[in-house]
Amino acid sequence: MTTLAPALPLLRIGPHTVQPPVVLAPMAGITNAPFRTLCREFSGGKGLFVSEMITTRALVERNEKTMQLIHFDASETPRSIQLYGVDPVTVGKAVRMIVDEDLADHIDLNFGCPVPKVTRKGGGSALPYKRPLLRAILREAVAQAGDLPVTIKMRKGIDDDHTTYLDAGRIAVEEGVTAVALHGRTTAQHYGGTADWDAIARLKEHVPEIPVLGNGDIWSADDALRMMRETGCDGVVVGRGCLGRPWLFGDLVSAFEGTGTRQAPVLRQVADVMLRHATLLGEWIGDESRGVIDFRKHVAWYLKGFAVGSDMRRKLAVTSSLEELGAQLQELDLDQPWPDGADGPRGRTSGNNRVALPDGWLKDPYDCAGVSADAELDTSGG
Ligand SMILES: Cc1cc2nc3c(=O)[nH]c(=O)nc-3n(C[C@H](O)[C@H](O)[C@H](O)COP(=O)(O)O)c2cc1C
Repeated sequence: MTTLAPALPLLRIGPHTVQPPVVLAPMAGITNAPFRTLCREFSGGKGLFVSEMITTRALVERNEKTMQLIHFDASETPRSIQLYGVDPVTVGKAVRMIVDEDLADHIDLNFGCPVPKVTRKGGGSALPYKRPLLRAILREAVAQAGDLPVTIKMRKGIDDDHTTYLDAGRIAVEEGVTAVALHGRTTAQHYGGTADWDAIARLKEHVPEIPVLGNGDIWSADDALRMMRETGCDGVVVGRGCLGRPWLFGDLVSAFEGTGTRQAPVLRQVADVMLRHATLLGEWIGDESRGVIDFRKHVAWYLKGFAVGSDMRRKLAVTSSLEELGAQLQELDLDQPWPDGADGPRGRTSGNNRVALPDGWLKDPYDCAGVSADAELDTSGG
C-alpha cells in the first residue's frame, strides 16, 4: 500500500474546493444522476462528479432527453455539467442558459471524443487542431459563464505527429479557463495502449498558472496516488475504473486521506449495489422497467471476475423488473470473495483505429473552414 506524504495542496476549481482532488470522469450513458449519487455515497460526498456530456445544440433547443440528462440530485453540490459543442455562438448560448437558469455550478467542455463519425466532421478530439476555433469557443464560453468556472477536458492530440495538448493548454490559460484535464491518449489510440502520463507531467510544466488534472488508466486508488506523484498533477479524473465499481470512490478518498482501507466486496455486497443502482435508475427515469433495462449495460462490469456462468449472465442482462433482477441475483453464489484481478482494466480497451478527418484537415491548423455543425450529432463521449 502506498501512502502520500506530505499534505496535498487543495484543488480549487474556481470557488469550489475539491478535497481530495478526485473527479469522476464524464461518461456518456453512465455518469447520470443515479451513478453519480452512488459514487458520492461511497466517497462520503467528497470529490467532484461530472455529468455525462450534453451537446450544446440539443440544450439550447431544449431537447426533451437532454433536459432530463441535465438533472442533478438535490444532494449534488457543486453541480458539474459537461458540454460539447463545435460552434462558438451555440456554446455561448448554452453556457448563458446554464447561468441564467441556474442549472449548474461548474461547466466542463469536452474536446476528447475519438469517434470517427464525429472527428470526420472536425468535431471531438479533432477540433483542438484548429487553434483559432478552439480559442473562439473558449472565449465565448468564458465570457458567457460569468462567475461559473469553465474547465476543459482533452486528449493529447490527433496522433503522435499531431499533438495539440500543449497549445490547447496555453490557449486555455489565455482565455481564462480555470483548469484543464488531459486524457493521455491521442485520437488514434482510442482506448488502446496505455495512457501517456509523461504528457500530463509536460502539460503541468507548460501551464503552471492553472490546475492540471490527469486522466487515463487509474484502476485503483494507488494508481491515483502514483499519477499524482509521477506527474505533479493537481488532481485525477477517474473513468472506466468506476464501471461496475462505484465504491472505488471510497478507496480514492481513503488513499488520499492516507488510510489503507480498500474495499473488496463479496458478491452479496456487489448484488446489493446492483439492485440499488437499478432502483435509482428507475426512480430517475420515472419508470422501474426502463431503469432496469438501462441497468443491463452495467451487469457485466459488476460481475467482472466472479464465477457466474454464461447462462446466468445472459439472464441477468435481459431482466426488466427489480423483482426479477433481485430473484436472479439471489440464485448466485453470493459468498464469493472479490475476485483476483478484478481491480484491473475494465470497459473499452480497444485502439489503434485510423483517424477519420475532414479532407485536408491537417494541412493548416489555422484554417478553420470545414467544421460541420453536424459534428455535434451522434456523439458518444470521449
Ligand atoms: C463509456 C464511456 C463514455 C465516455 N463518455 C465521455 C464523455 O461524455 N465526455 C468525456 O469527456 N469523456 C468521455 N469518456 C472518456 C472518459 O471520460 C475518460 O477520459 C477515458 O475513459 C479515460 O479515462 P479512464 O482510463 O479513467 O477510463 C468516456 C469513456 C467511456 C469509457
